[in-house]
Amino acid sequence: MDKRLNIGVLISGRGSNLQAIIDGIDRGEVAAQISVVISNEPGAYGLKRAGTHGIPALVVNHRDYENREAFESRLIEILKEYGVELVVLAGFMRVLTPTFLKAFPMRVVNIHPALLPAFPGVGVQEKAADYGVRFSGCTVHFVNEGVDAGPIVAQAVVPVFPTDTGEILADRILKMEHQVFPKVIHWIAEGRVHVEGRRVFVDGAKVDEEIAFIEPSL
Ligand code: GAR
Repeated sequence: MDKRLNIGVLISGRGSNLQAIIDGIDRGEVAAQISVVISNEPGAYGLKRAGTHGIPALVVNHRDYENREAFESRLIEILKEYGVELVVLAGFMRVLTPTFLKAFPMRVVNIHPALLPAFPGVGVQEKAADYGVRFSGCTVHFVNEGVDAGPIVAQAVVPVFPTDTGEILADRILKMEHQVFPKVIHWIAEGRVHVEGRRVFVDGAKVDEEIAFIEPSL
């Protein structure tokens, strides 16, 4: 791997997706380097994970800013300072406005713990379980002005059982998140991802037309 994509990771909490990306990079499976991790929450455990790996970890507490624009301007300033080429939202619980997105057009990716466009927003694992859907999963998408509405790069599907709590389902989905997010970052780093309107093309992606899931199983 020669040129590595410079990524900045924004978090708000635990940072298990951040850890999966760090581990993918360490294993040589993700052609990227994390130049900075920023949390809007001072107590975020993900900050410790970054520190352990020698990655600069900063807090930009949104509560210290007058409005979203001021908060986002500070984020942009730091990310540019660190030469960030792709912004990765890994459990970042703030909605970004056009102020931010204009600074990184189609260069912000998010992971969401549901099969978008079903269940946008927060607390979605419990909502999916309570709704009684038979499948849920995770979605990695580019971020646009809508909430959880940008072009979809990849999704992973997991079954949902009537006995599931939101927590049980969240754990099942999280395992998929940890597989899919580092992969998508790698594809982007390799320049294999192209967006045309809402459709996202991944060069060299495997195609399996026969794939199908039925739950309960027949
Ligand atoms: C993950 O499940 C992620 O999909 C979700 O928050 C969790 C963060 O976990 N993100 C959102 O809900 C974004 N709206 P982590 O901090 O352990 O990566």
